[in-house]
Amino acid sequence: MMEFFQWIEDSGLGVYIRESNWGFAIALSAHAVGMGTAVGVVMVATLCELNVLPKIPVASFSNLYSVAWSGFFINLISGIALYTSHATQYSYQAVFIFKLALIVVGGVLLKLMIDSAKTNGEEAGKTKLFALLSLLSWVGAIVTGRLMAYFFQI
Ligand code: HEM
Repeated sequence: MMEFFQWIEDSGLGVYIRESNWGFAIALSAHAVGMGTAVGVVMVATLCELNVLPKIPVASFSNLYSVAWSGFFINLISGIALYTSHATQYSYQAVFIFKLALIVVGGVLLKLMIDSAKTNGEEAGKTKLFALLSLLSWVGAIVTGRLMAYFFQI
């Protein structure tokens, strides 16, 4: 596997992101914009469902979910670009693998919240539990994303 990760790191994209003056900074900036967009919508939707923010029905977020998806795709592309720069390290970083798992779990729980709001209603305990767990997963994804830089061997 290490040869495969080394091949990714030695790719044109990997070298550009790692060694150019602006590559990593541009990718990380795009990553911040994508994260703010995607997780911003998720946070407002889940905090409304949890009655922390003034009540806006989950269903009325349907237009905003496409905005969240575009933020997610910005993070997917910029994240892959960042990953190629040091694939041999990130691939064995527990905090990175945990982050990717939290992103998947956070997305599934958000879908479960939306479906439960339709079938069980917005005030159902189940809907609120999915909202809380989704929110915690996305906050965890941000924290583990930030911690990646601290688990990095120069
Ligand atoms: C919506 C999903 C995502 C969120 C919320 C997220 C969050 C974050 C955060 C908060 C950081 C730290 C940014 C900083 O240092 O200023 C980060 C860095 C990073 N993320 Fe993500 N990320 C997401 C998706 C991805 C994906 C899909 C990948 C790879 C396939 C990825 C790879 C990386 C890498 C390589 C870094 C750089 C770590 C470093 O500073 O060394 N991210 N991410």
